[in-house]
Amino acid sequence: MNGNGEVSRRSGALGLMTLIGLQAYTFASIVLLLTITATVAGARPEFQTAFKAAYPLLKTGGVIDSASCNLCHKNGPPKLNPYGSTIKSAMDRVSAQNLTASMLHSIESVDSDGDGFSNLEEINADTLPGDPTSHPAGKPLSSAKAPSPADSGEVSPFDIKAIVFAKHAQHPVIIHLPIGLFIASLLFDLISRSKKGPGLNTAAYYNLMLAAITGVISVITGIVAWQWKLGGGGLQGNLLLHLILGIVTCLLMFGLWAMRRRCTASIADQVSTAYLVLAIITGLVIALTGHVGGILSGVV
Ligand code: HEC
Repeated sequence: MNGNGEVSRRSGALGLMTLIGLQAYTFASIVLLLTITATVAGARPEFQTAFKAAYPLLKTGGVIDSASCNLCHKNGPPKLNPYGSTIKSAMDRVSAQNLTASMLHSIESVDSDGDGFSNLEEINADTLPGDPTSHPAGKPLSSAKAPSPADSGEVSPFDIKAIVFAKHAQHPVIIHLPIGLFIASLLFDLISRSKKGPGLNTAAYYNLMLAAITGVISVITGIVAWQWKLGGGGLQGNLLLHLILGIVTCLLMFGLWAMRRRCTASIADQVSTAYLVLAIITGLVIALTGHVGGILSGVV
């Protein structure tokens, strides 16, 4: 009896240590990734960096990339061209010192240089949104708006239609489901190593199952968001990396699901160490996918 108590205490401590170790490891890898990104991206020039972060699909060596400072400036800084002026009024509207991706996205439907093409159409076509002599060939797709100081482009929080059909296709909303469900599943498995009983394992099983299913929905909404928001532009760089990592995450989760079904007699059985190792690796891939997604959405 005494011996049994000792064993379960020890495995309890082991479970807790694994848990703390896992969190420390995840935290350390996120910090490391952030440091690497900050170093590579560089802090200056900030506005150009902010623009490139907001539009990751920009062609290297293309018209916008070659224009450099003259994307927003006229004959070099500090004079602003029409696109630069629209940016400045968007910043002034929220009293911002630094330019963010959401400010740039808020002026996408504006036609700053008045050539008939919206800023977004020009950016997608790699022409200059602040120069009327530079615009895509053919007729404009949309009726672009002339710049007006009152035009914020922000969505009202109560405009249900605009929210449901938002260009991000609810991808940034749905991705929280597989992340949360997967973490819950892993935690239940880890806790059930010391606290035996069918409840936790069953809960872990269903959490994993839902994580895998919502993971697929995340990939689908991600692909839709790429079409709607980024105009389905070339798959490259961080966007390609994000898609691959997202698909790998799904495959890993379905692999884990299959492992649970095959290796255990009933879903209430404890999972193997091999399963836990693979689950921890999956957790790290999820963290990496989310991190790259954060860069794409301009949060990081
Ligand atoms: C994405 C648009 C954008 C790009 C690209 C950009 N700038 Fe600017 N820049 C602005 C805006 C907007 C302002 C006005 C900011 C303000 O007044 O608050 C500005 C202001 C400036 C100023 C004046 C600073 C001041 O305090 O008044 C200088 C100098 C400048 N930029 C230099 C540069 C250089 C050099 C580059 C290229 C390496 C560059 N900018 C690229 C948008 C941009």
